[in-house]
Amino acid sequence: MSIIIRHATPTDLPHIIKLYQTTAQLTGGIARTKNEITEQYVSHNLQRSFKNGICLVAQHPTNNNLIAEIHCYKPEPKLFDHVLSELTIVVHPSFQAQGIGKFIFTQLLSIIENTRPDILRVELIARESNHKAIKFYQKIGFNIEGRFEKRVHSPNGIYGNFEADIPMAWFNKNYTPKHLTLPQIHPPPLPYHNIYYPNAVYKTSLSIPQNKP
Ligand SMILES: CC(C)(COP(=O)(O)OP(=O)(O)OC[C@H]1O[C@@H](n2cnc3c(N)ncnc32)[C@H](O)[C@@H]1OP(=O)(O)O)[C@@H](O)C(=O)NCCC(=O)NCCS
Repeated sequence: MSIIIRHATPTDLPHIIKLYQTTAQLTGGIARTKNEITEQYVSHNLQRSFKNGICLVAQHPTNNNLIAEIHCYKPEPKLFDHVLSELTIVVHPSFQAQGIGKFIFTQLLSIIENTRPDILRVELIARESNHKAIKFYQKIGFNIEGRFEKRVHSPNGIYGNFEADIPMAWFNKNYTPKHLTLPQIHPPPLPYHNIYYPNAVYKTSLSIPQNKP
């Protein structure tokens, strides 16, 4: 049975909230506790991703539950119009370490390479102790760009009360500066920020046991 990777829609909101709340119960992963996963937080991410970013979800093959989500979007100032930021990825704890995170993340990068010539840089931040995530990001092409010392409060953590946040970035080899695009022909192409495919469905070859949520 195949997991479906597709662009998120507004009706995914309650399922994304549930997925984030479940994943937030594990410590050391996303930077929010379960109580901080509010409808407002998830809705804000979705709206920003619809406006000028990307949000993909992995849907369970036999019900509406979501197994994974990834999103990123442009910061507001025009100076950062070539950047996708605020990237967050979560995979449901029952489905981690089965290749799903890698698959959905590489789909995201492939969509950027193939449909977003306006994007040069994708950036994210991972806490230093999240070795699993940092190694994972390096494997798919992100580079460590430095350290934000003592940025994360982690009481009782292995690094004392604070630990570093690690900024990382990936660059789009197909980035095309706007001034280098070909002269427009009629009808004019859609503006870059409208080039996305909300109904695209990517089927994976991943199969999962049927007794999972
Ligand atoms: C980090 C996360 C997104 C990875 O997704 P995943 O589906 O579990 O990872 P995958 O199975 O696709 O594995 C990707 C890589 O991560 C590494 N990895 C995955 N599980 C691991 C584990 N339990 N221990 C060590 N490394 C692991 C492997 O290096 C793997 O690379 P490989 O293909 O060469 O084996 C997922 O574990 C998660 O949601 N964690 C909680 C939330 C979180 O930390 N989000 C990131 C915040 S910055």
